[in-house]
Amino acid sequence: MKRILSGLRPTGKVHIGNYFGALVNWVKFQKEYECYYEVADWHVLTTDIEHLDLMQKNIIETVIDWIAAGIDPDKSVVFVQSGVKEHAELHLLLSMLVSVPRLQRNPTLKEQIRDLEREEEKISYGHLGYPVLQTADILLYKPEKVPVGEDQLPHLELSRELARRFNNLFGETFPIPEPILSPAPRVPGIDKRKMSKSLNNAIYLSDTEEEVERKIKRAFTDPLKIKLGDPGHPDGCVVFAYHNLINKEQVPEIREGCESGKLGCVECKKNCAFKMNEFLSPIREKRNSLKEKDIIEILKEGTGKAKEFAERTMEEVREKMNLWR
Ligand code: TRP
Repeated sequence: MKRILSGLRPTGKVHIGNYFGALVNWVKFQKEYECYYEVADWHVLTTDIEHLDLMQKNIIETVIDWIAAGIDPDKSVVFVQSGVKEHAELHLLLSMLVSVPRLQRNPTLKEQIRDLEREEEKISYGHLGYPVLQTADILLYKPEKVPVGEDQLPHLELSRELARRFNNLFGETFPIPEPILSPAPRVPGIDKRKMSKSLNNAIYLSDTEEEVERKIKRAFTDPLKIKLGDPGHPDGCVVFAYHNLINKEQVPEIREGCESGKLGCVECKKNCAFKMNEFLSPIREKRNSLKEKDIIEILKEGTGKAKEFAERTMEEVREKMNLWR
């Protein structure tokens, strides 16, 4: 079986944007690939160094949701980045193979700095170099493929360059990792902006039925459709976007009903909340059956397996580079 590696930051509760953007695919890949899934906790330090009080809790919450959503720890290696110190060692070595201007040119990093409203000159050395850390995350496990969202493509391009540079300098060591681009469109939050924890517009896998109903009731729809009978414009309506994710069969009739005016927003939202709850119900059930100690056990075992792999790669790297052994 070919190997894949992917990672997500442990931001705590997982929302349906994370789910449809990454997790559903991760779950599917378990059938075709040997999967390594990383909790990228060191990556959080790049932007949230002042808010680490919830780190431990967020790691547990994140992984509970991964498992509830269908990541199977018997099939996949689920591990914590900071538990495998080899990530730091390879990061150091790779950091010698890339120039500072090359890192400064990264469009995803530029976008992050813009979103954070930071000045470019004040960005930390670690933040500038985190795509190199991500490269170490990947190359340590020699995966053929790396599933990512579109925003991660510039990082993966760097990873491919660094793998090639290492191989040229020290001999064939790393396969050049290929991206598998996530097919999902960006999931809008209930206010139509990008779904995000910090924007307070997310629907979480762990939301109760009532919370889901309440959120969808408030969701942004077509502002030109005010009362029953008004023709609506489903493209651009948040509720329609959700139907597209969790209620595909009814999408044609909903479009028809909305555009003709026969289907009102109140009824459409009720149906959407119902379907969303139907979709979330097995995840909720699984979630409730998981205890914190189960997650700790899963992470201990996964991190141990990852470490074994990473140690082997680092022995090879040190040997190829002729470092002290
Ligand atoms: N940087 C990614 C993000 O912010 C997470 C990540 C860390 C990752 N390591 C990775 C993704 C390795 C793919 C492969 O979402």
